[in-house]
Amino acid sequence: MNAFVLAKMVHVTCVAVSIAGFVARFSAARFWPEILRYRAVRVLPHVNDTLLLAAAIVMLIIARWNVLDMPWLLAKIVGLLVYIVLGVFALRGRSARVRASAFVCALLTFAYVVSVALSKSVAGPFAG
Ligand code: HEM
Repeated sequence: MNAFVLAKMVHVTCVAVSIAGFVARFSAARFWPEILRYRAVRVLPHVNDTLLLAAAIVMLIIARWNVLDMPWLLAKIVGLLVYIVLGVFALRGRSARVRASAFVCALLTFAYVVSVALSKSVAGPFAG
């Protein structure tokens, strides 16, 4: 197995852990809020997201890809930032309505980024 494939495996594993953890924390905020106070529950998502990004950077270095030449990579970076910001609102938003809307938007953003990854196109789900 080469280093690119290894980094991609780490990246995709972190992607799966990120969305599963996000859905779990959103559910916990509603049904079991005390668990969100545990240090591990607060810190591990950041560790995972850092690893997700680090694995992506390793792939870019190995493949010698310049994000400025590849719009789909830029779309993924913007998508990741939007997903993180929406995630904060989903978990800490002022009202239940704000939290629920941010949660749905975060899931849609995540789905868009996955479709960009698979199609390698900014058009994502609409790519030919
Ligand atoms: C929420 C954020 C992200 C999600 C959900 C995500 C998802 C994925 C998925 C599912 C793949 C595998 C695609 C395949 O099997 O062909 C992938 C590959 C990849 N991702 Fe991400 N990604 C995210 C963020 C990023 C970021 C920020 C970057 C850096 C610019 C990045 C760079 C890459 C690269 C270089 C690949 C390998 C593409 C290839 O195989 O040719 N990803 N990503």
